[in-house]
Amino acid sequence: MLVMTHLQKVYRTHLIETHALRDFSIHVGEGEFVAVTGPSGSGKTTFLNIAGLLEEFTGGEYKLDGVDVGGMNDAERSRLRNEKIGFIFQGFNLIPDLNLFDNVDVPLRYRGFDAAERKRRIEESLTRVGLASRMKHYPSELSGGQQQRVAIARALAGSPRLLLADEPTGNLDSLMARGVMELLEEINRQGTTIVMVTHDPELAARAQRNVHVMDGQVTDLGEAPRFRKTPHAAAATA
Ligand SMILES: Nc1ncnc2c1ncn2[C@@H]1O[C@H](COP(=O)(O)OP(=O)(O)OP(=O)(O)O)[C@@H](O)[C@H]1O
Ligand SMILES: [Mg+2]
Repeated sequence: MLVMTHLQKVYRTHLIETHALRDFSIHVGEGEFVAVTGPSGSGKTTFLNIAGLLEEFTGGEYKLDGVDVGGMNDAERSRLRNEKIGFIFQGFNLIPDLNLFDNVDVPLRYRGFDAAERKRRIEESLTRVGLASRMKHYPSELSGGQQQRVAIARALAGSPRLLLADEPTGNLDSLMARGVMELLEEINRQGTTIVMVTHDPELAARAQRNVHVMDGQVTDLGEAPRFRKTPHAAAATA
């Protein structure tokens, strides 16, 4: 689904160069739920933004669903992003002047769906996150956990194959965080591939695989559960 090989990202300002990603390689298979951990400034958001086609990279290769992203222009990248990717940002990024219905509608407008199809998708995704009755409410009238669920509904409304989440529970208390995590697990069970950046070890432990990032590099690719040798795992936990 997502394959990055020797990826590099250098931010250049007039004074300094920051190597946000150096030789970053990762493979996320279809249907996986991967948690990405690592210290602040290690490159997690940079990785996610590039994965989500929101930012360009400066070297290496990225294939999304078999398609080489490297040679694409802006328009091609936007089309691919709208079609395949849902993004949950660090912070909720809801638009305060729009009610929930209109917030979820924002990315759908770029997809060329007609009004009836958009309405169907908005109602379905808000129902999925348990907020069907709040469609005319504004973000400021919701709790943090509810706002994060709207952000999830917005990411899901376009039926993405790949859901990218940057600290989706970062601003939530532990009870709300658990609720959001359960929702993501449910979404993953229904077939969406998920890559989630988190600082929360308890949530990371619930993902199928943990990838650790340090200094712009993947230092531990984790082990996909299907490759685990059961007797070993059993012995290790015994
Ligand atoms: N637009 C930018 N211009 C210049 N440097 C940047 C830019 N965005 C990120 N960086 C730098 O790239 C490095 C990686 O940043 P990134 O946001 O990916 O870290 P992170 O792992 O997500 O951290 P956190 O856990 O604090 O969110 C940092 O040194 C950061 O200062
Ligand atoms: Mg970050």
